[in-house]
Amino acid sequence: MIGTDLEIARYYLQQGDVVAIPTETVYGLAGNALDTNAILKIFKVKQRPFFDPLIVHTHSIEQIAQLTTHLPKQAQLLAQHFMPGALTLLLPKRPHIPDLVTSGLPRVAVRIPNHPLSLALLRSLDFPLAAPSANPFGYISPTTAQHVAKQLGDKIPYILDGGACTVGVESTIVGFEDEQTVVYRLGGIAIDAIEAIVGNVKMAVISNSSPQTAGQLDKHYSPITPILLGNLHKLIEANQYKKLGILSFTQAYHIPNSINFVLSNKGSTDEAATKLFAALRYLDECKPDLIVAELVPNTGLGLAINDRLKRAASK
Ligand code: TXA
Ligand code: MG
Repeated sequence: MIGTDLEIARYYLQQGDVVAIPTETVYGLAGNALDTNAILKIFKVKQRPFFDPLIVHTHSIEQIAQLTTHLPKQAQLLAQHFMPGALTLLLPKRPHIPDLVTSGLPRVAVRIPNHPLSLALLRSLDFPLAAPSANPFGYISPTTAQHVAKQLGDKIPYILDGGACTVGVESTIVGFEDEQTVVYRLGGIAIDAIEAIVGNVKMAVISNSSPQTAGQLDKHYSPITPILLGNLHKLIEANQYKKLGILSFTQAYHIPNSINFVLSNKGSTDEAATKLFAALRYLDECKPDLIVAELVPNTGLGLAINDRLKRAASK
């Protein structure tokens, strides 16, 4: 069932069940982060491997402080500037957080979603919510309640509808190694904005065989249709006898027998981020032979968009 009733969402969560919730980045599949049975349900519904840990969602920095043994100075500064918002912090975990949530890792991922409905829901509960993106493992993340309903609707009791996500790509994941701030996943808060607060950051090198953050698996965020990335004019010319799904940044393409989705007429990477996952889903659902796409400028949220496009296109 889809609806906007906080009481219903709260009821199921208190029963130890899972509920899809809106955030500003993507929709999450939420359950009581301190209840192992609820966490097991999340993994089962998503078909997610247990080595891929979950982000814990809270309503306040005070609640985050109860989940970690140590809040480094940089973490405090970033929290003050970007929470609530599209930032996830990796912090040393307290023992009461189930190992299932963190996949046995020493740190817990925490964030405060910037969405009025989910913040109200979190404030009404006396436990935090573990929530991965509400998509089957490996597929494109959902940015509307309808996206969730299509894929998980018959597996979960309730989808809290908070409208279309206003950011559209997942949170930026940041941790700390000694004094160094490290970025593990590009996302909804741009690197420049983070560096303006804590100075230079390091990009984590992620191993594909033991991904510390599995949003970093090479293949991820993928439509069923194969995707090729590159220069659109050349890709269209080379595939002229195929039915194409064309994902472009600003330019419109009118090609017979093909469908085009323009991410931002005015060339805004923020606007492109809000439309990216809906565009990939739409093109995928049109069942073309091939999706062809181009990278966007590497500025602002463009870095996160390009990261997702490359993973979507990865074989
Ligand atoms: O914007 C978001 O972050 C969304 C919304 C729903 O909050 N959530 C999201 O969750 O993208 P998910 O599960 O799709 O991606 C979370 C990433 C995963 O790649 C996971 O491996 C990493 O965060 N992660 C979570 N806990 C971790 C931990 N304890 N140590 C290292 N990485 C962790
Ligand atoms: Mg995900």
